[in-house]
Amino acid sequence: MSPAAGPGVPTERSAPTGRALPTYVWEPTTDFLAARYGLPRESIIRFDVNTSPLPPDLRDVLAGSFDPSLCEYPPSDYAALVAAAAESYGVGADEILPTAGADEALDLTARAFLREGSVAVAAVPTYAMYRIVSEQRGASFVAVPRTSREAGFGLDIPAMARAARGAQLVWLCEPNNPTGMVEPPERIAELLGLLASQATQDGREAPAVAIDEAYAEFVGRSVLPLRARYSRLVVIRTLSKAHALAGARVGFAVARPETLGPILSYRAPASVSTVSAALATAALRRPELAAANVARIAGQRARLTAELSAIGWRPYPSQVNFILFRFSSPQVAAATAEALLRQGLVPRTFSPNHPLADCLRLTVRSAQENDRLIEAAKGIPA
Ligand SMILES: Cc1ncc(COP(=O)(O)O)c(C=O)c1O
Repeated sequence: MSPAAGPGVPTERSAPTGRALPTYVWEPTTDFLAARYGLPRESIIRFDVNTSPLPPDLRDVLAGSFDPSLCEYPPSDYAALVAAAAESYGVGADEILPTAGADEALDLTARAFLREGSVAVAAVPTYAMYRIVSEQRGASFVAVPRTSREAGFGLDIPAMARAARGAQLVWLCEPNNPTGMVEPPERIAELLGLLASQATQDGREAPAVAIDEAYAEFVGRSVLPLRARYSRLVVIRTLSKAHALAGARVGFAVARPETLGPILSYRAPASVSTVSAALATAALRRPELAAANVARIAGQRARLTAELSAIGWRPYPSQVNFILFRFSSPQVAAATAEALLRQGLVPRTFSPNHPLADCLRLTVRSAQENDRLIEAAKGIPA
């Protein structure tokens, strides 16, 4: 892949070479890390993957008998899951497409809107999958740097609009991973307005805009109402983060029916398992479970931020379940990561050529797990 772009880096355009297919490099597994650092598996804590520390209590769902249905395929319309999601997100049932996690929704969105020679645009630094699924379709990926760190990693709206002129798909991550920053909804509306008026001026169809709201529940608002004004808006949601069901692999593409249609046509008939659909349906029907998780994480986030700031780690503001910390140099960030890893605490690191190479991203976990992080951090020279 070409070098990552970021704040202060000019807009970069990459085109796939046609040789190697861009591939997501997964985080090392817990078993791998335990073997590498000579630690018991149970002592490893994942501060790198932005999951929630405790699953919701859905024992009654798991204890319910799946026997009659496990030998059959799930219903292809996933009616119960779709109804629960439609109610939870405040949209129509015909606007919901269940997928195997948000990642499948991203892939299907790329399949629906991108072809060989298409152009996809994203504000970077951001979640790596947008580039990967775009380039896998043979599209060029235009990486538009976000504003500087000092300006809060915001969207550079004029630059985004310029880059998106004639593009087929625009990717946004709201709140953004890995910076944790949240764009005010009126700024997203402003960008969509610009894209629509540019398209009208040019006599072309406006680009599809996919907004990945994997972390939306932590902020308590959504861009979904904007689909009334911008019909080519696709909002991507997941049960993996605030709902604490990453292992179930359930997400959604949410869009007006005419925009959802092409995405739906690429989905395998039953990519969400019967068990996962039942768990997700129950989780969506019991919003108090996610709300309690979000509140617990907010408390722990404040504590982690305060305790780690006190020893000289520099946090960027966060409203989500992870915090980006800045260090004095990429070398100090790397040494801190290694010192944490030796104690079984796994941070998210960034490669030396990444604009956030001097940062570590840490997931907010349970009180006891965070205690271990704070204790370990106190013993590492800042
Ligand atoms: C922004 C963003 N989108 C999507 C995903 C993947 O979500 P899922 O587990 O639903 O596939 C992640 C996971 O870290 C993410 O950070």
